[in-house]
Amino acid sequence: MKKSLQDLREVAVNAILSAPGAEELEALRIQYLGKKGALTKLLKMMGKLDPEERPAMGQLANQVRAEVENAIEKRRNELNEMMLKMRLEAETLDVTMPGKTAAVGHEHPMYIVLDEIKDIFIGMGFEILDGPEIEQSEYNFTKLNTDEGHPAREWSDTFYLTEDSSILLRTQTSPMQIRAMETKPLPIRMLAPGRVYRKDEVDATHSPMFHQIEGMVIDKGVTMADLKGTLDAVMKKLYGEDTVTRFRPHHFPFTEPSCEMDVQCHKCGGKGCPTCKGEGWIEILGAGMVHPKVLEGCGIDTSVYSGWAFGMGLERLAMRRFKISDLRLIFENDVRFLEQF
Ligand code: DAH
Repeated sequence: MKKSLQDLREVAVNAILSAPGAEELEALRIQYLGKKGALTKLLKMMGKLDPEERPAMGQLANQVRAEVENAIEKRRNELNEMMLKMRLEAETLDVTMPGKTAAVGHEHPMYIVLDEIKDIFIGMGFEILDGPEIEQSEYNFTKLNTDEGHPAREWSDTFYLTEDSSILLRTQTSPMQIRAMETKPLPIRMLAPGRVYRKDEVDATHSPMFHQIEGMVIDKGVTMADLKGTLDAVMKKLYGEDTVTRFRPHHFPFTEPSCEMDVQCHKCGGKGCPTCKGEGWIEILGAGMVHPKVLEGCGIDTSVYSGWAFGMGLERLAMRRFKISDLRLIFENDVRFLEQF
C-alpha cells in the first residue's frame, strides 16, 4: 500500500508537471483525484489494512493527495502564464512597421485654375462674391438690358422654374453685376465665379451646367483703357509674360461698347494650327463698358461713375491650361483622369 501510494505520487506529479495544456491537466486531475480516480481506488483498499497500519497510511494518502493537488495548482499557474505570454507576443504592436497611408486627394483641376484666377484678381483689389443659382428673370435679363422678346430669353435655351418665366436657373453670372451694384458701396471691384445653366446637349464642348467668372469695376473715370490694361495683365499672369491679346468689337445687351478678347495661340504663335482651329487666336472672354441703362437702373449716377465688366468660361480656361480635349472629362470625376493633375 505504501509503495503503491508512493508510486502513484511519483507518476502523477511527473505527468502533471509536464502536462502540455489545460485540457490534458484536467484529464490528469480526473485520472488521479476523480471519484473513480487512482487515489480514490487506493483509499478504498484502506479497509483491508491492519488497524494499526491505517493511521500512517491515511496520513500518507492525505499527503499524496495534497502533493498531487499542489502539483496541479502549480502546473495550472504555469500554463496560464505561458498562455498569457503567448497572447501578448502575438498581439504585440510593432511601431516600427510602415503604416497604412490614407489616399489623400487634391483639388479638382478646374478649381486649381479658378484659385489662380482668384489670386490674381484679389492681388488687384477685387473682392470675391457668391450669388444665387436660382435667379429672377429680372436680374438674369431685364436689369441687364435684355428685355422681353430678346432671343436670349427663349424657353428653348433657358431652364425656367415657373410658368410665368419669372424664376430660372441663371444662364450667366452677369446678374451678379446687378446684385453688387444694388448692395455694395462705390467704388466696386468684384469677381463672381459660379455655376450657370443652359439647355444644351452634352458633347465635347457643351454641358447644360458649366461655370463662368464674372468681373466688374465701377469707379470714377473708368474707361475702356482700364478694361484692356487689366485683362491683358491678367492673361500675362495666367499664361506667361509673352502672352499676346487682342480685342474685337462685339455685342452684348448690357455693355456699350462691347468686345471679345482673344489670346494669341501659344502653339503656333498666331499662324494657325489645330489647337486654334486655324484661327491663330483663341477666344477667352466677353467684356465691355457697363451700359448706362444698366448703371442707371441700379441708381448709379452716370455723370460721375462708369464701369467695365467681363465674363469668361471657366471650363474652357481649365481645358486650355491643362490641354484637356473633352469637356465631359471635367465633370465625370473619373479618378484615373483626376489623378493626372
Ligand atoms: N454674360 C455673357 C455670356 O454669358 C458674358 C459677358 C459678356 C459678361 C460681356 C460680361 C460682359 O460681364 O461685359 O455670354
